[in-house]
Amino acid sequence: MNDVPIKDKALQNGDKIQVGDILFTLMLDSDVPGCSSSPVSLDDNRLVTLNFVRLSPEESLFLRGDRAPQTASAASARVAHDLNALLKISTNITSAQTVDNLQDQLLDSVLDVVPAEQASILLVGADEEWFDSSVGRDRRAPGKLVQPSRTIVHKVLRDGTAMLSRNILAEGSLSVSDSLVQTQTRSVICAPLQALGRKMGVLYLATGNPDSDFDEGHLQWVTAVCSIAAVGLQNCRQLEFLRSENQRLQEEVNLNHNMVGESPAMRHVYQLIGKVAPVDSTVLITGESGTGKELVARAIHQNSPRRANPLVAINCAAIPEALLESELFGCEKGAYTGAQQRRGKLEAAAGGTVFLDEIGDLPLPLQAKFLRVLQERQFERLGGHRTIPANVRWIAATNRDLKQAVQGGTFREDLYFRLQVIAIRMPPLRERSEDISLLANYFVAKYSKACGRAVKGISLEARAQLVHYEWPGNVRELENAIERAIVLGSTELLLWEDLNKEVLERGGSPGVVSPKYHEAVRQAKRKIVHEALDRVSGNMSEAARHLGIHPNNLHRLIRNLGLRSTGQSTDDRPA
Ligand SMILES: Nc1ncnc2c1ncn2[C@@H]1O[C@H](COP(=O)(O)OP(=O)(O)OP(=O)(O)O)[C@@H](O)[C@H]1O
Ligand SMILES: [Mg+2]
Repeated sequence: MNDVPIKDKALQNGDKIQVGDILFTLMLDSDVPGCSSSPVSLDDNRLVTLNFVRLSPEESLFLRGDRAPQTASAASARVAHDLNALLKISTNITSAQTVDNLQDQLLDSVLDVVPAEQASILLVGADEEWFDSSVGRDRRAPGKLVQPSRTIVHKVLRDGTAMLSRNILAEGSLSVSDSLVQTQTRSVICAPLQALGRKMGVLYLATGNPDSDFDEGHLQWVTAVCSIAAVGLQNCRQLEFLRSENQRLQEEVNLNHNMVGESPAMRHVYQLIGKVAPVDSTVLITGESGTGKELVARAIHQNSPRRANPLVAINCAAIPEALLESELFGCEKGAYTGAQQRRGKLEAAAGGTVFLDEIGDLPLPLQAKFLRVLQERQFERLGGHRTIPANVRWIAATNRDLKQAVQGGTFREDLYFRLQVIAIRMPPLRERSEDISLLANYFVAKYSKACGRAVKGISLEARAQLVHYEWPGNVRELENAIERAIVLGSTELLLWEDLNKEVLERGGSPGVVSPKYHEAVRQAKRKIVHEALDRVSGNMSEAARHLGIHPNNLHRLIRNLGLRSTGQSTDDRPA
């Protein structure tokens, strides 16, 4: 060690230990280059009176072109040095990419010019009253706690005016905070960091060295630096925000899925998918029927490292209990009468994902077997003894309330907890009505293409009806309603009367178009159809020809308007 052969010695920072051809240097954390930051903690002691010099930005010499600092011979070297440092800071600020980076550069530059022993930057968050970040430096002892006076920093932040306080100890007054006495602080400069009218924090400098007290020149310089730095800090904060926002949006864009929806609830689902897809954790997807649980399962698989391997879906509700076990685990020849050897879905999914749909319908005996596979990650075929590894990722879905099923004794509690390592709840469509229009457009495009009918859009009336319907069957019901309307409709726009009875009866458009308006339109339509039918004695084809619509369309109108094809109303006849 340190070129001396030794057997036993306590290590010290900077020791060089040679083992064969290898030389190690011991560097304790606080001495690693670039890690010289000190912790910062506000000193709560009361500070009643101090000898202050205050400087507002308007009075700052460096910020005012008309009052440049006097370069008298004695001071000229210092002014040149200060200006140089100021120039260096402004150049660095434009190149700083992060708030941390900028704060580090700022502290370095400030300690280069001002003879402070300690320097710190305290930044406020959204609430301007509270500091939510701090960084400090101690020139003499890197890593030493830096303790700015809470009274001073709050006063400067509140007033927006820089201050210099000298000869603190000389005051000898009991009003001087204990900690300032303890730390032998003689002078303090504290200046606000504010940009575009927003308070961002303060820069705080302190020294206890009698040979290098702060003067008004330092105060002038620090005020100018803070003015420049605040804009840089603001820009860095904005840049950091935009970067994280960009990353969030990129993650959303990069996600490969077939889901439509921009509502906050769906964005949350996309974010969850993005987070769970890369890992192997078991996911439980819950939500009402038709909310898109299967699409989520597919999206997780598609965005996972297992995407090249199969996604095998098993519908626990659709397979009879007797078959479910062999379907899942496979079976050996003779496992039951007539049984042939065959691989189950678990083996077929090797390396991929198993999607257990309607897990709430899994019979209790199978729940126990299934729990074992989940825990041990291996299984045997039905009637077999050979252990087969289950190299799959598990995703389960249900529209049942599993908690309630656990309480009711139809679902094992241990399996429930095992399944919902990560739970994704699909919001019902009525909780994200802002998605209805988007989804409707998507399905119109999808089915007009599939049906070979050029439907360009949805009429205002029909759209209002769609948006205000409750959709108990969720997206599936909306999809079916649009498909039906496209198949049965005959115009370029999907019309109100193309929609099915449930939607028309229970939909509506409060707040968008008044219900009175809808009723009036409905009555007018009834009247027109009545008159057309009356004129041709109830002949449907003739009436359709008179109205200029397809006979199918007339049939639908009659049904939706509650009329009979004889021209008689099922309820009251219109006036
Ligand atoms: N966000 C969406 N964007 C586009 N289509 C969707 C969306 N959500 C659901 N769908 C469509 O709605 C139908 C029902 O979706 P899915 O089968 O995933 O629902 P589910 O929640 O599994 O329903 P269930 O509980 O009845 O099995 C599918 O045709 C699906 O393509
Ligand atoms: Mg499903």
